[in-house]
Amino acid sequence: MTEELHPKQRAGERLAELDELEVHIEKLVEGGEGLARFEGIPIFVPRSAPGDRLRVRLSERRPGYGRAEIIEILTPGAGRREAPCPHYDRCGGCDLQHLEESAQLRYKAEAVRETLLRLGGIETPSKVTVVPGQPWGYRLRAQLHVGEGIRGVEVGYFARGSHDLVSVKRCPVLVPELEAVLEDLPQQLGDTPHRRIDVTAGDQGQWTHSPPVDSLPRGEVESRVGDLVYAYDARCFFQGHRQLAPALVEHALDASRIGAEEGDGTAFDLFAGVGLFSLPLAGRYRQVVAVESDRVACRFNRKNAKRNQIANLDVKLQSVESWIPRLPRRPTRVIVDPPRLGLSHKIRRALVEKRPQHLTYVSCNAATLARDLKQLGPGFRIDSLALLDMFPQTGHMEIVVQLLDREAYPEA
Ligand SMILES: C[S@@+](CC[C@H](N)C(=O)[O-])C[C@H]1O[C@@H](n2cnc3c(N)ncnc32)[C@H](O)[C@@H]1O
Repeated sequence: MTEELHPKQRAGERLAELDELEVHIEKLVEGGEGLARFEGIPIFVPRSAPGDRLRVRLSERRPGYGRAEIIEILTPGAGRREAPCPHYDRCGGCDLQHLEESAQLRYKAEAVRETLLRLGGIETPSKVTVVPGQPWGYRLRAQLHVGEGIRGVEVGYFARGSHDLVSVKRCPVLVPELEAVLEDLPQQLGDTPHRRIDVTAGDQGQWTHSPPVDSLPRGEVESRVGDLVYAYDARCFFQGHRQLAPALVEHALDASRIGAEEGDGTAFDLFAGVGLFSLPLAGRYRQVVAVESDRVACRFNRKNAKRNQIANLDVKLQSVESWIPRLPRRPTRVIVDPPRLGLSHKIRRALVEKRPQHLTYVSCNAATLARDLKQLGPGFRIDSLALLDMFPQTGHMEIVVQLLDREAYPEA
């Protein structure tokens, strides 16, 4: 007797026999890949556009989904264009240059909403702001890779999906002073043993790098954001979009609510970096506690407070996981801005137990944000959501969610 196969299994078997197929792209998903389906099985297609009809070659087969590369565009979707950067075909740095900026923004915002709903069961609130960013010449930081080519030392980015070096002399998303560095960098690096060089710019044309190479500029750089000046260097995190940093601070601070808040007037900035949010918080709250696990970032955070004559900021060099038991009950205000992995279970549990009255979550990954919002549970309600295009030409966005404790802020 032959065993009856589930329709999905049958579709999986048929897919396993194919190398090439024709697909229709439904939408972009979080991260920027297009989604098509083969008899219900999701097929992710990098560098596609919603509405595309494509001939593709399967490059990855997994239980339940596949990934495919474009062989031919049969019918282009709306918003497609010729990628402006000559390296786009191979370079793994950008993934949406083939789309007009207005289409990038629309599809990315839709992908964030869809991810929050699908993974977190979270309906987007009515207060949503989408903030476009200058599309070129914005990026303050880059991780460059160094290799040996036929003509000597080469500098560039990894190719898409591999560790092969794509040598670049141009990178139009970088701020002009960093892009200008690319031309001479291979000669300047000489016989450096370093395989990766991080470069970071300030706002006065200066730049710096890490790890140290004698022939390159060293030390710290500075950027003004609003009325505050921040020093940092290439070893620590600083937000990557030069022109959007002030808008990010404004949305994260949500200043219109401050003042009406109850509590002892202490704010907590968790995953604080060099103090991008800690410093402006200190201007609005009686006391601010910043928690950051990177020694260099902490040093800059303290230095930046001093430089801006801020005395009510206490910077803790500690992981948030080990510090979190010290968060008091019912704190007035907490900001969390974790790396892409989001919050650990321990931090989420502590936030649910301690119940900040106003919790701001700044995220660069909608999938981990969706998981964390779900785990934070019904005690909080989402007051507003801001989507900032801090990474034009890529599939990523910065998301700022304002969460209010339901008891402290009952719905109007
Ligand atoms: C996305 S950045 C945000 C920094 C800052 N809020 C800003 O906007 O410039 C995350 C920061 O968290 C720090 N970090 C990562 N894991 C951490 C942890 N477990 N505990 C404390 N800080 C952590 C990193 O060093 C980095 O500075």
